[in-house]
Amino acid sequence: MRTALAISLLSVLAAFGAAADTYPQRPITMVVPFAAGGPTDVVARIVAEPMSRALGQQVVIENVTGAGGTTGITRASQASPDGYTIMMGHMGTHGAAPALFKGLKYDPAKSFDPIGLAAGTPIVIVAKKSLPAENLKGFIEALKTGGASMNQAHAGVGSVSHSTGVLFDSLVGAKPTLVVYRGTGPALNDLVAGQVDFMTDQIVNVAPQITGGTIKAYAIATPERSPSLPDVPTTKEAGLPEYEVSAWNAVFAPKGLPADVRAKLVAALDTALKDPSAKKRILELGGTVPKEAEAGPDALQKLVESEVARWTPVLRSAVDANP
Ligand code: MLT
Repeated sequence: MRTALAISLLSVLAAFGAAADTYPQRPITMVVPFAAGGPTDVVARIVAEPMSRALGQQVVIENVTGAGGTTGITRASQASPDGYTIMMGHMGTHGAAPALFKGLKYDPAKSFDPIGLAAGTPIVIVAKKSLPAENLKGFIEALKTGGASMNQAHAGVGSVSHSTGVLFDSLVGAKPTLVVYRGTGPALNDLVAGQVDFMTDQIVNVAPQITGGTIKAYAIATPERSPSLPDVPTTKEAGLPEYEVSAWNAVFAPKGLPADVRAKLVAALDTALKDPSAKKRILELGGTVPKEAEAGPDALQKLVESEVARWTPVLRSAVDANP
């Protein structure tokens, strides 16, 4: 009896050890909680390729959209914590969402094993090309005068474009009509086509359209100009210094990963961010690559906790001011 128990215990331990040693044995799904072609998807695809090479298995992107990214993140958070489902979260899903969703089915600080920050993504105030205002001050005037006739695109309540957008509206006293999309990829198509008037979006999505001249950029909400958009003034230069916001994208796994599996994912992301072509692409699009102190799971855990604490009061009062 004792021998049988010992043998079965040994085989369980051997199976567990073997799984960790040999991980990964099949493709890994990276859930992107927004539409293909938008900023989260762009960053995910940039890091997925070198991560696949580092892991020796394909990291396959699955776009699961809805509810400002919380549908995909909820689903991924409930997947088995075996390393075969990971996700690209961001400042919205893991920072802003708790302020805006009463029944959020995950806790950004408790339901995940953080893997690491993937990119920092400054926010740019962009508008359709045909808007007559030539600078941020003129745009804000037009926005206030236009009221609900002005259409502001965003990627769903709690997303980056929504939270940074309502913050912008409450700061300048604007009350535009909010138009929701499954991501700012499709929203950008409509902005280029002139179907919506403006949005606040992550630079990695809009930089190519700004340089290509198909949309306007009124300001970038960072202390310094971006090397990718040297002609776009900062919000401070453009007369709205109180609007300084930046977003970020980061890789998470469902809580409870075996330690070896987690270490392999952390190492693969680290390798991906050192990959010269991945790094170049992020920088070309105006994103930032995490500095040493910002990289890895511990820094990401701290970032999530501080972002939830920072965004909760700000967003609650912005939404109360502009329901
Ligand atoms: C957002 O606003 O949260 C993002 O732009 C979503 C996306 O990746 O489309």
